[in-house]
Parts: sequence; structure tokens; C-alpha cells
Amino acid sequence: MENVRAEVAPAGAVRHLSTLPGPRRLPLLGNLLEIRPTQLHLTLEGWSRTYGDLYTFWLGRTPVLVVSRIDLVQRLLRERPKEFRRWSPLQELIEELGFGGVFSAEGDSWARQRRLVMGAFTAGQLRESHGMISTITRRLRERWRASAARGAPVDARQDLARYTVDVTSAVAFGLDMNLIERGTDPLSHQLDTVFAGLNRRLMAPFPYWRHVKLPADRALDQAIVEVRRRMLDIIQTARAELDRDPARAAAPRSLLEAMLAARDADDPKVRLSDQEVLGNVLTLMLAGEDTTADTMAWMLHFMALRPDVQARMRAEVDAELGDTDLPESPELAQRLRYIGAVAQETLRLKSAAPILFLEACADTALGPVQLGAGARMILLTRQVGLKEESFHDATSFLPERWLTPRPADAGKHDPRAALAFGSGPRVCPGRALSLVESAMVGAMVARDLDVSLVDPGRPVKELLGFTMKPEGLVVRFTPRRR
Ligand code: HEM
Repeated sequence: MENVRAEVAPAGAVRHLSTLPGPRRLPLLGNLLEIRPTQLHLTLEGWSRTYGDLYTFWLGRTPVLVVSRIDLVQRLLRERPKEFRRWSPLQELIEELGFGGVFSAEGDSWARQRRLVMGAFTAGQLRESHGMISTITRRLRERWRASAARGAPVDARQDLARYTVDVTSAVAFGLDMNLIERGTDPLSHQLDTVFAGLNRRLMAPFPYWRHVKLPADRALDQAIVEVRRRMLDIIQTARAELDRDPARAAAPRSLLEAMLAARDADDPKVRLSDQEVLGNVLTLMLAGEDTTADTMAWMLHFMALRPDVQARMRAEVDAELGDTDLPESPELAQRLRYIGAVAQETLRLKSAAPILFLEACADTALGPVQLGAGARMILLTRQVGLKEESFHDATSFLPERWLTPRPADAGKHDPRAALAFGSGPRVCPGRALSLVESAMVGAMVARDLDVSLVDPGRPVKELLGFTMKPEGLVVRFTPRRR
């Protein structure tokens, strides 16, 4: 057996990552038998409590450095794309599935796509889309009011996934998909299948699916075919609009129109290929859906557990909104400070992306560890924000910690440790949009409905399917008690 015990090297020395402490491993398999993709974040966080904030585990014969030291995590995130990049197998997998875009791209190609994508999420763009976001929020309210009238249990995450697809399509593609009212559309389920498949393949010891397909791989392939077909339809519709009205290419009304205009640009620094346009449409659909839907589902979970939080959210909307039913602009949504704090605290405790996968671009040192080019790392971004050295009473749900001014005796509060959206040049471009969505849904529920758990005795578990979802969350809405 090779290296079947956790190794310990003398403190202070520069060390190769294979000599760091870590869980015992088996020859050839490493720690693969202990890893379930749906629980990966919990396993890695658990090991970090035993082996510290820099340790190594093995995926087969590949060592993976796991980092949860705030200064090192910040440096890794900041020094991209030059020094560090996303895992190359992740890029390969995403490109193999046909949705390579700004999330998986590196170097100059990433910089070009990032500039374009950022244009979709400016304050001005969000203001323009706000009317549509309000309409979509009211549709969700009608659906939940109807469930409340029937006393029916609600799979809130599923409804929220439809909500986020509708919002992303409206903001990024200028399109009203209206999955909420159409109800039976399979798109959000297909997007879930894509994410779950990606997560599973990322942890596979070798790319077996290139030789033999299991039922889950066939489901993934089928989902990709369907999602691609839907996205190509969206692109064709937008293309036809641009052909009808070429002046729009000079003043595009959505990211999709901007991408289509860039497809025809003369300047190679701007031009996008057909595959890049499709890849980014798919990327935004995926990146905008589960992340925000899972976060809002966890927010409802905390609201259901904490009637005092619901009461305070309600007092805030009543005071701030007056006679209007919803915030009428992103700025007014931001004025709901307590609801914003509930969203922030939800993201800290239940980050939709609790781990990030990075790789060294060249030989380098990270703290006391020597890394070769291509060395793999996993950053425990949620764990960083769960440490007492980052936040006082770190494992408790305390939205007040995000309110300003903070009392002088409020204890440790290090916002650098709030990493739910990543950090540095690749920080999530959808951050502001997702916070508006959480504020709108939080305000809508607080204004109109009480939320409770259908079965308070049933545990709601964390399940990683690329994003981290609340498995087993079923809520009941009742009309607000006056
Ligand atoms: C609560 C909701 C969300 C969370 C927790 C979240 C989280 C993240 C995280 C952790 C990253 C990686 C950042 C890094 O590497 O430093 C990321 C990247 C990204 N997110 Fe989000 N995200 C959310 C919502 C959205 C939305 C609504 C969109 C767009 C509609 C979006 C689009 C993207 C894109 C395109 C990237 C890749 C950026 C790049 O590589 O340059 N995200 N997100």
C-alpha cells in the first residue's frame, strides 16, 4: 500500500502538496471510495476540521490541495486568469457538453467574453428589466396564492427554478419565457439534469462515458440535446429580429442581441463565434438558474424555521413599500435592508456554490506549499465564512450581523470571508441580479404570505448537484395573518 497514513512534515518547511496532512488513501483509488459527489462539500469541510486549512486528498493518483485559509483563498481568486485558472477537466467537460462560455473560458478568450457579459448586468440594464422582473414576481405570487388557498404543499425550489429561468431570459435575452404560468415546461428539470451530470462526471475516476453510457449519461445526453434545441430557437428568434431591424445591432437591447452583433464584428478582439454565442446563452441559463433558485429556497427554509425573521421582514416591507405591492426599482429593492441581510446570511450559511475548483497555470508557491503547473485545488469558500475568526457565532443564522451601523460589541465580522459569489476578476457577474431576485421574492412573500414547513420533523439536507440544494424542502403558504 502506498502512503496509507496521513503524513506530517516539519512545520515551516516548503512542502510538496503530496506531503501535506490528509485522510488516509488507498493505492490507485486514493480517497475515491469515500467521495460521494452529492456530499463532496460536506466531506471536504469535515476533513478540514481534522486536517486543517491546507490539506491534501487524492482523486485516484491525483493529489488535490484543499484550501480554506482566507488569505490564500483570496490570493487564488485574485490572481486569475494569469496565475490560476478553473480545473482543466471542468473546462473539458463543459466544452464536451457544448456549453463552453465565459465560465469555462481562460486567458484572452475569457477576457473578451467577460467584457460582453458584464454589459448585461449593469445598473442601467437592471433598471430597464425591473418591470419585467416585477411581472414575473407577481406571476409567482399568483401561483403561491392559489396553493395557499388550496392549502397545498409546495415544492418551492421547483417553482423558484422556473422563476429564475424566466428572469434570466428576460434580462439577458429580452425574452418572456413564462415558465411559471406554463407550469409543465421541462426546461428547468433538464437544466438540473445537466448540472447533476456535470458534477458526477467531474468526480469520476476516468471518462468512462466516452466508452460506455450508463442510464444517467443517456439522461444527460438527452437533456443536453433538448436544452441546446431550446437555446438555438432563442438565438434564431433574436437573429430574425435583428435581420428585420438592422439598426438594433448598433444599440442592442439585450445581451443576446449584443452577442449576435459581436458575431458579425470586424474587430477580432470583439468578435464571437457561433459556438461562443450558443455556449454563453447556455452558460447564463445554467449559471442564473439553480444558483439563485437554491439560494431563495434556502431563504424560505430559514423563514419557515424563524417566525421572528418573517415578522421583521414583514415590518420592513410594510414600512418601506407603502401602498405598492413590490419595490418599483432595483434601488428600492436595495432599501429593504433587513431582507437583504436575510439573503446575505442565507448565502453565507447555505452558499449555492460552497466549493470552487482551481488549478495552477505554472509552477508557483502557495503559502508553505510548492505547486507544479497543473496542480489541482479545491477552495472551501463556504467554510471560510463559517469560522469564528471570520464571523462571531459563525454557525448561527443572524441576519442582523449584515446591518449597518453594527454595534461596537457585535464581535468578529470580516466581509472578505463572505465568498458565496467568489472574488477577484472572475467574481460572479450575476451577483446584483440575484440579490434583486431575492429581495423581490422575499418582499413578495413577506407582504402576502406566511411560510411554514409541511413536515417540521423531516430533515432538509444539503445536496450538491454542482449547486447546493435543499433536498426534502416542502413548504406550505397560508394567506398572511393580519
Ligand atoms: C445566488 C446566486 C448566485 C451565486 C451564489 C453565484 C455564485 C457564483 C460563483 C461562486 C461563481 C464563481 C466566481 C469565481 O470564480 O470567483 C460564479 C460565476 C459566474 N456566475 Fe454566478 N452566482 C449566482 C447567480 C448568478 C446569476 C443570476 C448569473 C447570470 C444570470 C450568474 C452568472 C455567472 C457567470 C457567467 C459566472 C462566470 C464568471 C467568470 O468566470 O468570469 N450567476 N457565480
